[in-house]
Order: sequence, then C-alpha cells, then structure tokens
Amino acid sequence: MIREFANIQQASSAAVKQITDIAGSAVRARGFCTIVLAGGSTPRQTYEFLSAAANAAKMPWQQSHFFWGDERWLASSHPDSNYHMAHNVLLSKVPVPSRNIHRITTRHKNPETAAALYEKHLRDFFHLKTRAGMKSNDLNMGIPSFDLVLLGMGTDGHTASLFPGSDLLEERKKWVAAVPPGVGSPPVARITLTLPLLNQAENVIFLIAGNRKRAILDSILTRPAEAEALYPAARIKPVGTLLWLAAAEG
Ligand code: 6PG
Repeated sequence: MIREFANIQQASSAAVKQITDIAGSAVRARGFCTIVLAGGSTPRQTYEFLSAAANAAKMPWQQSHFFWGDERWLASSHPDSNYHMAHNVLLSKVPVPSRNIHRITTRHKNPETAAALYEKHLRDFFHLKTRAGMKSNDLNMGIPSFDLVLLGMGTDGHTASLFPGSDLLEERKKWVAAVPPGVGSPPVARITLTLPLLNQAENVIFLIAGNRKRAILDSILTRPAEAEALYPAARIKPVGTLLWLAAAEG
C-alpha cells in the first residue's frame, strides 16, 4: 500500500502514528515489541516527532526493543553513524531502558566480525524470548519476525545496505552480513540485515521523499519483475504488511 504526502513533515507524522499503533498492539498481544530503525537522513524528522512529549507518551518504551537495519563502519560517535543519529534525536530523549537498545557495534576488528556478532545477538535475543514463552509462535523456520522494520531507499534503489548488483541480494543463510566499502554515501564498509530476515517482518514501512525516489517507487509498483532486477528495495516483500509513505518534497 502507498500513502502520499505533500511534504516530509506530514509523512513523518503518519510514520509516528504507525509506529505507536504497531508498538501498542504488539505489547498488548505479547508483552513486548521489536522495532528496526532505518538509517540515512529521511527518518530524522520521524524520530524527532516521536520524541516529542505528546507522541512519546503513547509509546510503551519499557517494552520496546530497538534494532538497526544497517550501520556504517564508523565510530558510534561519528555524525554519519546511524546509531548516533537515532540516539541523539530519539533514544537519548525518551525513557527507553538501555538494555532495550540493540545497536550494531563497530568496535570489532572488521565488519565481518561485527556482522557475525550482531547475528548472534539477534539469535540470543529471540531465542530467550521464545524460551520465556513470550513469542513462541513467531519463529518461522528459525527466522524471527520483527514487529516493525523501518526502511529508507536511496536514489539508486538500495535499501538498508543492500546495493544494486550486490551478491548479498542472493543471501539465504546469514541474517546479518558485511558490505565492502566503495558504495553508498559515505562510501565506508557497512553491516546490514539481509533479505531473509527483513522479509520475515510483520510490518515494513518505507519512508521516502522527492521525485527521484518516487520514480523508482512507481516502477516497483508498475513493473515489479523488472524493478527487482534493478532495485534492491523491490525485493522487500514481507510476510506481513508493506507500506510506503511517500512525500513529494523532502
Ligand atoms: C544507510 C541506510 C540507507 C538509507 C538510504 C536513504 O545507512 O545509508 O540505511 O538504506 O535509508 O540511503 O537515505 P536518505 O534518507 O539519507 O536519503
């Protein structure tokens, strides 16, 4: 489904409403919720709005767990770090317990190690939740379902750190993988969740702005098979719902 907005402010307000609704129903159903945050600059306003008192009051922060769809191979204090942006604008401003913040750490010897350790962290997290009986019906062939995955899309059709032409688009086993440097902006190495994990989500919301991204979305909607070969974002086909929030202007 696609919802269109004149500007990013309106699209961000709609995103906040979706996030608080999804978190509320997940917590009512099972006692906790899992949210994957998007990187890049487009979600900044959503995070800002979500941290504002009136919206923050609607979030079950104690029961909400935050993850990242991708991270750049930078120190967590670097202004281009996806963690840094979400922390500064949102997570440092709301009463979310630090144990609920599951960032992709970059203090390791290389991105491959960081990816393997994040995958292990996810496996342990969902395993414990399952053993505690809180999410027992959520494991489908061992791959867990996040309640909500927020994503952005680049003007080349990439999403998370899944870039056009990457071998990772065919990944079937790993949940998290390293991406070599040289693509994206900044062109540093990255760590990304993979399609098998992203596509197991209960809800995926893309937030995009501007004409160039809109043209890619149009081709994903009208010529899906062709688009899949060109744009990684076209391969996001979750088991749950897929919503595009598209702003005409950024
Ligand atoms: C990243 C991303 C990436 C991003 C798109 C859109 O870390 O770069 O997670 O997939 O969402 O590149 O980025 P903008 O919102 O900055 O256009």
